[in-house]
Order: sequence, then structure tokens, then C-alpha cells
Amino acid sequence: MVKARKFVLARHFEGEPQLDNFRLEEEELPPLEDGQILCEAVYLSVDPYQRVFKEMHKLGEPMIGSQVARIVESRSPDFPVGKYVVGYWGWRDRTVADTKNHNDLWAPILAPDVGDLPLSLCLGVLGMPGNSAYFGFLELCHPKTGEVAVVSGAAGAVGSIVGQIALIKGCRVIGFAGSDEKVKWLKDELGFHHAYNYKSMDVATALKEAAPEGVDVYFDNVGGKLSSDVIYNMRTGGRISVCGSISSYNSTEIPTAPILQPAMIFKELKMEGFLVKRWLDRWDEGIKQNIQWIKEGKLKYRETVTEGFENMPKAFIGMLKGENVGKAVIKV
Ligand SMILES: NC(=O)c1ccc[n+]([C@@H]2O[C@H](COP(=O)([O-])OP(=O)(O)OC[C@H]3O[C@@H](n4cnc5c(N)ncnc54)[C@H](OP(=O)(O)O)[C@@H]3O)[C@@H](O)[C@H]2O)c1
Repeated sequence: MVKARKFVLARHFEGEPQLDNFRLEEEELPPLEDGQILCEAVYLSVDPYQRVFKEMHKLGEPMIGSQVARIVESRSPDFPVGKYVVGYWGWRDRTVADTKNHNDLWAPILAPDVGDLPLSLCLGVLGMPGNSAYFGFLELCHPKTGEVAVVSGAAGAVGSIVGQIALIKGCRVIGFAGSDEKVKWLKDELGFHHAYNYKSMDVATALKEAAPEGVDVYFDNVGGKLSSDVIYNMRTGGRISVCGSISSYNSTEIPTAPILQPAMIFKELKMEGFLVKRWLDRWDEGIKQNIQWIKEGKLKYRETVTEGFENMPKAFIGMLKGENVGKAVIKV
């Protein structure tokens, strides 16, 4: 009998997640049926959506999430032993998974050919966060050479890629992140034109300095007052892509921030939210483009790797507090 470890939700979240929201359990896995594979997790992902998709929080059930896993047994010719897959099977180190009869979103996919790059990138720049940056920025912000682009959550998994894609497209790029170390990384290593620590610098004052003529495109990862301040500093015809609102995820009530309608009206702004699954039919396009930009040296990635499956709750709590630079992943 093969055993699996899994983290289940022991108590619903209230405010910031705590270690006692999670419980580590063991289960015996059944023998494989036709079309099934047995996989061992190699890397697991902690992401903000795991905090906020409340309808998927079931007490006693595994925490939701994705992983890169190695196929160790297979009864599916399309998924041979030794290959790697990306699966949305939750916080578990071994899984028996169906390869058929799934809806698109949850079906395991063979990991893309990443060449010499680490497989963990399939959870970051070469996976869901990278595609959120690629499609969410290009399809909704339509950046043009010479325009001013602002990104919040700029040193995170999605934000750090958005800022670099904006640079590739010839924008002047301004990032907001939550520590001086992150700000230094954005400016010195990624080449952002300006970056600010939103915890120690007033956002409107920063934008008066960095973009006196105003902001053309804004990629919003955080919401709240920070975003209202950016939006009140936009130019006529500006575009806003709303990717996330992490500043509200631990709140028990929906927070308030300065209303946006005056800026939206008088500057004739366009604002659109998205879920990245919108582009599932173009998934490979984003991954191939990001691989190419990495190989050309135009796109850099960084990961904050936590060792040990047993440390997943700690990594998740730390990511929500801003302890990660780049993508937060767990190495089993
Ligand atoms: N729409 C979609 O399909 C989609 C897909 C992927 C991600 N997202 C969203 O995109 C955003 C970024 O996700 P990610 O995976 O790239 O995570 P991430 O940025 O790698 O990690 C989360 C970061 O959020 C920042 N943060 C935490 N509390 C904050 C607050 N109160 N105000 C401002 N920033 C705060 C922290 O950085 P600091 O140190 O800078 O505070 C932390 O490192 C999230 O809102 C997520 O929900 C949406």
C-alpha cells in the first residue's frame, strides 16, 4: 500500500492564516485503475488564491493548490512513468489521479519542455502566474512603447514578470513593493525605472516624482488605497488590468478605499478584471513566449524555495505576509 501525506483545512480562516488552520494527515492510496497515474510531488505551490477562494475551503479536505509531480506508476499510455506533470491536486505529496474525464482546468498536463531550466518554474513564470502576467497585461493593458506602466505587488510571482514584460514592450516601468530589499532588486537587477516601498513612501508622492505626466497603464495585484492612489494619477485613456486584491484577502469585511468613479470618468479610463483561465486555449503561447524571453536574457525569474512538505503552512503564511521575493514554492 502506498501512503500519502496531505494538509487538510482544520479550521476556517479568520484574518491572517495561522498554523492551527492546517492539520497534517496520512492516507492510504488505492491501486491504480485504467487511465490513472500515481504521482510523487517534487514542488508544490503556495498562492494567494488559496486564501481567497472561500467556496473551495472544505473542513477536513486537502488545501487547494498545484504541484509539479513525477509519474511513478501509470495505467495511461499518454502519461508514461518518469515524466513530470502539473496537477491541481492540493497540498499532498502523493496522488492517484485520473487522466481522463476531467474538466479542462483540473486535468493533469504534462510539464512543458523547460530544457535546462528548473521544473519548479512550471508553478511560476512558466505556469499560471507567468501566464497571468503575459495575458493579463498584454491583452488588457495594450502597452505601447514610451508609455508609463505601473505594477503593484511588483516583486511577486506575477508582478515581477509583468514589470519585465512592460520593459520588453518599451514602457517606462514603476513598481511598488513592500520592502527596501525588493525595491533594490526591481531597480538594480530587473531594470525597473523606478520602484518604491509602499510601506514607507506615499504612493501619490512617488508618482508625482516618477511620472509627473501621469500613468498610462496599471497592472493591479493588490487593490485598496494604493490602487486608488495610482488610478487618480492616470492619464486620459489609461488602461487598468485588475489581477488581484491581496490587500483585502485577510479582511473579515470588504474594506473601503477612495471611490474611483471621478478618475474613471474625467480621465476616460478603462478597467477590466480577469481570471487567467480565460486564456486556457492559448496556454502554450504564454509559456513558449516566456521561455523564449528567459533564453534571450530579457526575462529574469526568482524563487523563494521552502524545503520540506511539512513546512507548507509556514510558507503559505509567509507568502501572504510578503516574505517571498518572486515565486514562493515548496521543495518536497
Ligand atoms: N486573476 C488571476 O487569474 C490571478 C492569477 C494569479 C494571481 N492573481 C493575483 O495576483 C496577485 C499576486 O499573486 P502572486 O501569486 O504573484 O503572489 P506574490 O505577489 O508572489 O505574493 C503575494 C505578495 O502580496 C504582497 N502583499 C501582501 N499583503 C499586501 C498588502 N496588504 N498590500 C500590498 N501587497 C501585499 C506581498 O508582497 P509585498 O512585500 O510587496 O507586500 C506578497 O509577497 C494576488 O492578488 C493574486 O490573487 C490573480
